[in-house]
Amino acid sequence: MFDYTLLYPLMQDSPLEKWSEQLPQVLQKLMAEGLAHGDVKRWNKAVQQLPQHESCHIDLTADNLTISTQTPVDMQQLETTLKELKPWRKGPYQINDLLIDTEWHSDWKWKRIKDHLSPLKNRAVLDIGCGNGYHCWRMYGAGARLVIGIDPSWLFMMQFQAIKHFVGPKPVYLLPMGIEQLPNTLHAFDTVFSMGVLYHRRSPIDHLLQLKSTLRKGGELVLETLIVDGQQGESLVPDDRYAKMRNVWFLPTIDTLIQWMQRCGFEEIRVVDVNQTSVQEQRSTEWMSYESLSDFLHPDDQNQTIEGYPAPKRATFIAQKP
Ligand SMILES: C[S@@+](CC[C@H](N)C(=O)[O-])C[C@H]1O[C@@H](n2cnc3c(N)ncnc32)[C@H](O)[C@@H]1O
Repeated sequence: MFDYTLLYPLMQDSPLEKWSEQLPQVLQKLMAEGLAHGDVKRWNKAVQQLPQHESCHIDLTADNLTISTQTPVDMQQLETTLKELKPWRKGPYQINDLLIDTEWHSDWKWKRIKDHLSPLKNRAVLDIGCGNGYHCWRMYGAGARLVIGIDPSWLFMMQFQAIKHFVGPKPVYLLPMGIEQLPNTLHAFDTVFSMGVLYHRRSPIDHLLQLKSTLRKGGELVLETLIVDGQQGESLVPDDRYAKMRNVWFLPTIDTLIQWMQRCGFEEIRVVDVNQTSVQEQRSTEWMSYESLSDFLHPDDQNQTIEGYPAPKRATFIAQKP
């Protein structure tokens, strides 16, 4: 279903070599399991039906990640096919004059963090919980040598394939797996991103330790997660749902998370951004027509979730593995 043949050579002669020896078998098994599901078959068929094109001009530095085909394509067919892959959550993408106006302005998050990163030029990057890969393209656009994203959602994998159909063979790969399927002895990546994942983990300390194990010595962690205001030692564990999400576990304060990161052995920890998510950044669109942030907030107070917790506020931490 997905072609990884050009990935393995990029992993050789590097700390990723050992993983590259195990990966083909792992991926073959995952893809066979994926294709056993009716939805995955249907989405895969949609991707196969995307209009053929000669070559494209791409701009991976534009906020609307922009693709312009050099020869005309049937735009109606394109729109119909891409809409079979709804809901589109992360983006935006622009193909010719078609805007995939996604639920999230993922470009806003990127804009908030990009200038704080150690330059990505020539780095091997891992993006854990990468969604459909929007930020992976931006990382490659910022000069990374290789970007690997992992995410267990098959729909997001298929959306990535649809975009890759136009972008062509670049060293940006998404693997259909969760963090628990990564070897815990990688010690390989120059930069590792975990954005929007920690609060979904039941054990945040284990998550931090696993992130550390994916980094080479001196590598950089970029961690973005939901936080709450308060003192060191405090964190919110919702009784049940948080902003209607079922699987939310720990929302630490900034100082609590810094302490967790220190305990896990990270150094030079910096908070580079704190931002309360706005209903302009996360909203329903024709490409994601389900409920969105405005439905998750309290009708009388936009600073509270519908359950009465503090409204979603995110912080980004950058740290080094010594
Ligand atoms: C809130 S989204 C964040 C997406 C993107 N990183 C961003 O910041 O816009 C969380 C992502 O984590 C993925 N995810 C869920 N469980 C995961 C796991 N065990 N390992 C890796 N990713 C996971 C979800 O499929 C989803 O795409």
